[in-house]
Amino acid sequence: MPALWVVMPAAGRGTRFGAALPKQYLPAGGRPLIAWTLEALYAHPAVAGVVVALSPGDPDWPGWDEYAGRPLLTCAGGATRAASVLAGLEALPESVRADDFVLVHDAARPNLSLHDLSQLIERGGADPVGAILAAPVRDTLKRAGDDGGIDATEPRERLWRAFTPQMFRRLQLSRALAAAAGQGVEVTDEAMAMERLGLRPLLIEGAEDNFKITTPADLARFEFELERKQRERGTSGE
Ligand code: C5P
Repeated sequence: MPALWVVMPAAGRGTRFGAALPKQYLPAGGRPLIAWTLEALYAHPAVAGVVVALSPGDPDWPGWDEYAGRPLLTCAGGATRAASVLAGLEALPESVRADDFVLVHDAARPNLSLHDLSQLIERGGADPVGAILAAPVRDTLKRAGDDGGIDATEPRERLWRAFTPQMFRRLQLSRALAAAAGQGVEVTDEAMAMERLGLRPLLIEGAEDNFKITTPADLARFEFELERKQRERGTSGE
C-alpha cells in the first residue's frame, strides 16, 4: 500500500461554537480534540505523516512534531478553509509527487473510524479522480421562505452529506482549489473544487457518526462516544 500524506485544516478560530478556545482545542477525555483526530488518522498504517494548517502564531498548538513515530508538520493556514488546505498542500514534503493521492481531513472531525478510513483509502485509491466519505440524506428536506414558513419539500433521492477525509491527487487538488479561489468562489469542500473542473469524485458511504464538532451538543456526543469505546475496551479485556 503506497504511503499517504494528510492535510489537516485547523486554522479556524471557531467563532460559531462560542467558546474561548477554538473548537479543535476543546478538551474531551482529557486531551484536546485535535489529538483524537490525529490519532484516528495515524491509526492507519498507510498514513506517512500529517501537515496541520494552523492560524498564524496559534498560541494553543501544543508544538508536536511527530506522532506515533511518524512526522507531523505545520504551516500557516489562510482566511478560508480552502486557503488553509491549499497552504497545507504547498507545505507537503517534496517526496509527495504531483500525482500522489493525499487526504484532507478536518481537525474538528475526531470520530473517524479506522474502517471508514480504510474504505476510503482502498476504494478512493482505485478511482482515477479520488473519493470522499459521505452519507445519504435521511431526513425530509424543506426549503424555507423569507418568513420562516415552508416553501417546498425537496426530493432527497440521490442527496448525500459530504464528510472528510476526502482523497485527491496532490497537483490536481491544488489546481482545483486555486482555480476556485481565482474565480472568487468559496468552495466548502475539496470535492466541490474538483467538480468545478468537470471531474466526478466517488462517493463512499461512511458512518453517520463521523460528525464535525460545531456545537456544544456535538462535543457532548463525542465525549459520550469516547466513554462508550473505553467501556468496550474494558469489557473486552484489552
Ligand atoms: O469552520 P468549519 O467547521 O467549517 O471548519 C472546518 C475545518 O476547517 C476546521 O478544522 C477548521 O479549523 C478549518 N479551517 C481552517 N481555516 C479557516 C477556517 C476553517 O483551517 N480559515
